[in-house]
Amino acid sequence: MKVLVIGGGGREHAFAWKLLQSSRVQTVFIAPGNGGTALDPRLHNVDITDLAELAQFAAAQKVTLTVVGPETPLAAGVVDLFRSRGLRIFGPTRAAARLESSKDFAKAFMKRHGIPTAAYESFTDAAAAHAHVDKHGAPIVIKADGLAAGKGVVVAMSLDEAHQAIDWMLADDAAGNKLGVQHNDTPRVVIEEFLEGEEASFIVVCDGKHVLSLATSQDHKRLLDDDKGPNTGGMGAYSPAPVVTPNVHARVMQEIIMPTIHGMAREGETFTGFLYAGLMIDASGQPRTVEFNCRMGDPETQPILMRLKSDLFELLMHATDGTLDKVELEWDRRIALGVVMAAAGYPLSPRKGDEITGIAPEAPDAMVFHAGTTLDGNRLLTSGGRVLCVTVLGDSFKLAQQRAYEVVRGIRFDGAQYRGDIAHRAIRR
Ligand code: AMP
Ligand code: GLY
Repeated sequence: MKVLVIGGGGREHAFAWKLLQSSRVQTVFIAPGNGGTALDPRLHNVDITDLAELAQFAAAQKVTLTVVGPETPLAAGVVDLFRSRGLRIFGPTRAAARLESSKDFAKAFMKRHGIPTAAYESFTDAAAAHAHVDKHGAPIVIKADGLAAGKGVVVAMSLDEAHQAIDWMLADDAAGNKLGVQHNDTPRVVIEEFLEGEEASFIVVCDGKHVLSLATSQDHKRLLDDDKGPNTGGMGAYSPAPVVTPNVHARVMQEIIMPTIHGMAREGETFTGFLYAGLMIDASGQPRTVEFNCRMGDPETQPILMRLKSDLFELLMHATDGTLDKVELEWDRRIALGVVMAAAGYPLSPRKGDEITGIAPEAPDAMVFHAGTTLDGNRLLTSGGRVLCVTVLGDSFKLAQQRAYEVVRGIRFDGAQYRGDIAHRAIRR
């Protein structure tokens, strides 16, 4: 069988790596892929980004299954397009992807269905947004209503920061939309109550009728150690997340995941694909939804798939057949931990073109997934913000952390940035 993975980050490298382990998969295409997938002789980078051309490619190559990594093609309707041509693809339709692509839609949806989340109001008028912030005070959270690669959220600890974020997000490009937000129609911000607690990523696979939860994980959104510095796409992750106790797990399924799946179906937008609930879990164990994503997380995918013992291709075939009730997943009991190595200047203006050396070959307990890398002849160069995700398995959080940093320290490129404390919460528990 031939499989196509859409995307070019660490998540997609991990998808491709895991799909290749299936005895039923002969060929994995990855569009566009990256330097790491180009280096693997069993993977084939495909230099196509246009979605209609990708559908033509999948049809011409007789691709059995297409898997979508990032949110942008999903929000642009890649699933609708492939399905309309009779091609098997796993992901949500464009309308269902609004759970991620529009914060305003997601918040209103949660309100309609009684799904626990932070109180909010949404604004297109800057003066009204400023007045709201003055009335409620800080800390307060300002979010752009559009895709912004994880950078459209400002957790403002002071009123000044909150006012500045509103001005940034409601400005159009010419007037200095500094965060690069892809606005939906009119620029809009969602202003929410600040939630306290510990975050976790809760990802499930949905076939339209059945729901199967994946191993839990926790991401590290801030750039610097001790959760300081700006928000990023994610600087590292581990699985499982101890904060998701069996009791919390049951509450998340009952209070968040199932109401979301049923609510979408009742509204005529049956959800298929990965549904990712970003959670804030308070001291009493009450989970609240911080955000929905309609895809796997990056970097959460890397440790999650490192722990998955079952066949990912079989899982996704069942997920596209509506037979997920036939699947039971098997997980490695060890801890998986991934450390992201990012380029100089990340997240605001990552530098490209630094040469990368010292990547150890794959080991049974360690794999270096590539993201922003490219091959220039036989030199491997940085080409994006998050460059690599060093992912390992270990018998404890401490041992996994030691092993990951051993691999990280062997890798060199100018200006490399990485956190030294991935999994600090799990280790301190
Ligand atoms: P989002 O893109 O909505 O997941 O937000 C990015 C990050 O901002 C989250 O992972 C949280 O760390 C933080 N955040 C978002 N919303 C809130 C909130 N209401 N209260 C506290 N922190 C938040
Ligand atoms: N790691 C967070 C995300 O993928 O959105």
